[in-house]
Amino acid sequence: MTLPQRVTLREVGLRDGIQSLGAFIPTERKIALVNALSETGLRRIEATSFVHPSYVPQMADAEQVMAGITRTPGVAYEVLVPNVRGLERAVAARADLVCVVTAASDAFNQKNLRMSVDQSLEVTREIKTRADAAGVPLAIGISTSFGCPYSGDVPIEQVLRVVGRLVEYGYPEITLADTTGMANPMQVERTVGAVLDRFGQRASFGLHFHNTRGMGLANVVAGLHAGISIYDASFGGIGGCPFAPKATGNICTEDTVLMLHEMGIQTGVDLVRLIDAARQAEEALGQTLPGQVMKAGPIEHQPTAAAA
Ligand code: COA
Ligand code: ZN
Repeated sequence: MTLPQRVTLREVGLRDGIQSLGAFIPTERKIALVNALSETGLRRIEATSFVHPSYVPQMADAEQVMAGITRTPGVAYEVLVPNVRGLERAVAARADLVCVVTAASDAFNQKNLRMSVDQSLEVTREIKTRADAAGVPLAIGISTSFGCPYSGDVPIEQVLRVVGRLVEYGYPEITLADTTGMANPMQVERTVGAVLDRFGQRASFGLHFHNTRGMGLANVVAGLHAGISIYDASFGGIGGCPFAPKATGNICTEDTVLMLHEMGIQTGVDLVRLIDAARQAEEALGQTLPGQVMKAGPIEHQPTAAAA
């Protein structure tokens, strides 16, 4: 079985990671975190989202965050948007890539975006047309691709239907998201296999996992076996969706980087610097983060004094 030799990580901690935290993180701190993450070798950082500020107050300073960060050459500063208004704000803020969001289940999409899946697909079509006119690169995420916290199992056919529409509209990169950690590795192989069989030649595909039930990294390995080389992750394993009950952290970026490197898969990320950034974040946020490598440190392959 050949695995990808290189994986691209999208750091989503400053968006998915912090969006459900109650206390507002001062804008300066968010900017400092983006800047620290920019120095780790990560090439894609989702810095904020342009959503309705009264639904997600933590993201109310999206414009200020985008205006305040120091843009490191070679790093794409990406943002999430739910609708055309969000796209307009993202374009004005000079986002390098706009990640649109929709879902595979109506029940979740209604809570999250106040639209049915079909309504939101119409919105994604309009966003694609407008983003093309503005010359802005797009990607899209499909929430609840592996199960819905409100309506339970999501049939693969439903995922294929949504993917099919997005491919038809011309979305070049599509991420299947496990919003509340319901996916298991066998299911990941099955779902990704079905999607790639049908649409693998027409778009790139990424995966977005939450470690809600401890299956996050196992699901990454399943994704690697299925041939996927783009993964979302959050520094320190921080995360959760404000519109999904009991949602917890994304897979942790440092833990994912360590696992991939130990497996001989490149990420371009400097693990030591990333651990530093995660520790800095833990201090800035004033809470213990779930990441494990930030606590245990990298694996020492040579004998050390500590082991004696
Ligand atoms: N940014 C800022 N304001 C926005 C906006 C956006 N992206 N989208 C809509 N608005 C404003 C409208 O301008 C309108 O303002 P007005 O009342 O002053 O005219 C108001 O919000 C209502 O617009 P409407 O289109 O009816 O929005 P809605 O109330 O149906 O909410 C969303 C729809 C998509 C904006 C909202 O559900 C949302 O932001 N969801 C994002 C949830 C999220 O971030 N989830 C986690 C990430 S997946
Ligand atoms: Zn998520």
